Amino acid sequence: MKKNFYKPFILVIIIASVLLLSNCDDNTDDPDYILNVVSLKEHFKDHFLIGNIMNPGSVASEKLKHHYNVLTAENDMKPDKINPNRGSYNFRTADNMVKTAIDSGFLVVGHTLLWHSQIPSWHRSVNSSNAKGYMETYIKDVVGHFKGKIYSWDVINEAFPDGGYNGDWKTSMRNENPWYSALGSDFVYYSFLAARQADSGAILYYNDYNLNMSSKAKMVHDMVRDVNIRYKNAYPGADRLLIEGIGMQGHHNTGVTAASIKASIDLFRQLGVRISISELDVLSQTWSEYSAQNALTETGKTKAAQLYGDYFKVFIANSDIIERVTFWGVNDSESWRSRAAPLIFSGDMAKSSYHKIIDSLK
Ligand code: G3I
Repeated sequence: MKKNFYKPFILVIIIASVLLLSNCDDNTDDPDYILNVVSLKEHFKDHFLIGNIMNPGSVASEKLKHHYNVLTAENDMKPDKINPNRGSYNFRTADNMVKTAIDSGFLVVGHTLLWHSQIPSWHRSVNSSNAKGYMETYIKDVVGHFKGKIYSWDVINEAFPDGGYNGDWKTSMRNENPWYSALGSDFVYYSFLAARQADSGAILYYNDYNLNMSSKAKMVHDMVRDVNIRYKNAYPGADRLLIEGIGMQGHHNTGVTAASIKASIDLFRQLGVRISISELDVLSQTWSEYSAQNALTETGKTKAAQLYGDYFKVFIANSDIIERVTFWGVNDSESWRSRAAPLIFSGDMAKSSYHKIIDSLK
C-alpha cells in the first residue's frame, strides 16, 4: 500500500529530471558556441597576435586554445604573488602556468614588474638610499628566472596619473609608485635597463590605461622618447630601443571613441615603438552610468558591440605597428567588471561584439 502511494511521485520526479536534462543542452551544436565560431587568432593571423588572460585553472582550456595565441597572467605574476618578501620568491604558481601555456603553444606576456598596486609591503618601504639596488636585484631575479620563456614584459605598469600635463613628465608621475617616490623619474631608465640585461630576448613594454586621453598619451610619449634617447647616448651601438613597446590597456566604455584611440596610436607611431592593446574590454555603459551602477540597456550593449568593430578597424589599419590585441577575460561573468558585460562572449556564446570584430576585417 505504502509502495503504491509513492509511485506517482517517483514517476513525476523521473519525468521532471528527463525534461530538465533535455533543457541542459550545452550549446555545442549552436553556430555561436565559442568553439564553433571562427578562431580569432586565425582570423587575424596576418595582422596581430590575439591574447587573453590566464589563471591557474584556465590556462590550457580549449576555449583559450581555439581563439588565442598569447596569454597574460591576470594576477599570478604580479609582485605581491611572486615576491612577498625582499629576496624571497614564490614562483611555483607562475612557473606551472607559464610551463602549461608554453607547452600548449602560447606565447606568454610577463605582467608586471613595477606597479603601485598588488605589491608586497617591502616595495612600499624602499627609500632613496636602498631603492636602486633593491629594484635592480628584484628585476634581475624575476626576469632572470623566466629568461627565454617570456615574449614581452610589462616592466612598468600605470606610472602616470590621468588629468592635465604640465609638459614635464619627470615631475608628473604617480606619487603612489614607491620607486618613483624613492628614486624620482630615474627609476624608469634603471628598471628597463635591468630588465634588458636580465633577458635581452624579451620585448620591453611600458603599460598603462586611458592612453586614448591626449594629455596622458603625451606624458607617456615624452617619457618613452627621453628614456630611449638616454639609452641611445649611453649605448651608441645598441640596435634596439630600450622601451620597445607601449601597452595601451583598453579598459574602455561606450564614451570612448575610436578616433581618440587612433590619435594616440598616431602619436606613439612617431617613437618607432610597437603597440599592444594589452587589456581590452568595453563596458556596455558610459563611465558615469557604470559608476552610478545603473542597469544595462540594449542600447548600451549595441553601442559596445559597434565600438568593438570600430576599434578593430583602427587596429587593422595600424597593424604594421600593433603586435598584439589581448582581451582582459573570455566571458562576461569572469570579468573584473562583469556587471557591465564588457567582453565578447557571454557564457560560452559569441555576442554581437564578437561578430562586429570578425566583420571589421571584411
Ligand atoms: O586573491 C584574493 C583572495 O585570496 C581573496 O579571497 C579575494 C577576496 O576579495 O581577493 C582575491 O584577490 C583579488 C584578486 O583580483 C584575485 O582575484 C583582489 O581582491 C582583486 O582586487 C584583484 O583584482 C584584480 C585587479 O587587477 C587588482 O588591481 C583583477 O582580478 C585584475 O583583472 C586586475 O587587472 C588589472 C591589471 O593587472 C592592470 N590594469 C588594470 C587591470 C584591472 O584593474
